[in-house]
Amino acid sequence: MSTINNTFKALRVEEVEGNYVSEIKEMPHEELEKGEVLVKVQYSSLNYKDALSTIGNKGVTRKYPHTPGIDAAGVVETSKSEHFKAGDLVIVTSYELGMNHPGGFAEYIKVPEGWVVPMPKEFTAREAMIFGTAGFTAALSVYRLLQNGQKPEMGPVVVTGALGGVGSIAAQILRKLNFEVIAANYELAPEAEIEKIGAFSQIDRNTSDDTSGRPMLKTQWAGAIDVVGGNTLTTMLKGCKPLGNVTTCGNIGSGDLNMTVYPFILRGVSLLGVDSQNCPMEIRKEVWALLADKWALDVNEEMVKEATLDTLKCHIDLMLDKKSRGRVIVKLS
Ligand SMILES: NC(=O)c1ccc[n+]([C@@H]2O[C@H](COP(=O)([O-])OP(=O)(O)OC[C@H]3O[C@@H](n4cnc5c(N)ncnc54)[C@H](OP(=O)(O)O)[C@@H]3O)[C@@H](O)[C@H]2O)c1
Repeated sequence: MSTINNTFKALRVEEVEGNYVSEIKEMPHEELEKGEVLVKVQYSSLNYKDALSTIGNKGVTRKYPHTPGIDAAGVVETSKSEHFKAGDLVIVTSYELGMNHPGGFAEYIKVPEGWVVPMPKEFTAREAMIFGTAGFTAALSVYRLLQNGQKPEMGPVVVTGALGGVGSIAAQILRKLNFEVIAANYELAPEAEIEKIGAFSQIDRNTSDDTSGRPMLKTQWAGAIDVVGGNTLTTMLKGCKPLGNVTTCGNIGSGDLNMTVYPFILRGVSLLGVDSQNCPMEIRKEVWALLADKWALDVNEEMVKEATLDTLKCHIDLMLDKKSRGRVIVKLS
């Protein structure tokens, strides 16, 4: 017998006279979008896109009122899909969830069946959300490198933004796969921080963000996972050894890419795009399975903060002020 109440709690963002206000509201189930699968959310996680959605960023969310939360994990309550049944544990991230479809900062989400990933048996909803979209993107970046032939014996791999959500997980996965990892952060980090993510060494901004204007640089690494974009990404490409791979997933520094074709045509370097949002379902399932099993990482609980809908707003404000560190997960039920 279903235990669903008539209403459920959600963090709703509303536009009030040009300002965006977040409040916990009781929502009727009828207000959920159409979709085959109703999920009782156990955990969500906080990402920068969610923070932007709460302040009316139209690049993330076009229409308000809206419920943010691009990540959700929980248990299927009802299903009109033949692939899922009540009681199944699932992960839902990406597509339009939390952007233009009511998201995971709510006790329930209703989504199309094509967005739903069966929970790997090794994971609880909490563990899956500790990784969330950031962890999935990190794993997808490593997956793309390996798919294109990157091997530890080719030499070290640089991870930029290495202490951030995507970078720190990418670095740890690479380490687990026996790659030598070089960290690149905006500022040099304490050695202990670098060691925690499994990096052997770090490079400073003069090296990771070359301003010499040269079309190619002395080769210093065999590959890179870049989250910064702009001149940092071009530096990764210009300094990469022959046949190395560089992934790009972010634009923290810039969305521009101003460079010549020479690293590509004289060294056979590859630039690989990483898009977690529209990643095909087969690859999505494979990458989540790798994260849960062969690439499983020891979770550093010191880096995990657990919020509830009541305390989430403080974490969102910290993230918007760029004072947030580690992962924030949100307990819904
Ligand atoms: N393509 C996709 O599917 C996808 C999915 C998820 C995320 N992303 C993107 O990936 C990027 C990273 O996300 P995230 O969650 O890892 O962000 P994050 O947690 O904020 O981490 C970013 C890290 O980069 C560092 N950093 C900033 N500027 C830098 C620079 N010029 N050089 C080196 N490091 C620099 C930051 O250091 P400080 O903290 O010291 O500033 C921070 O450690 C974002 O652009 C995000 O939008 C893309």
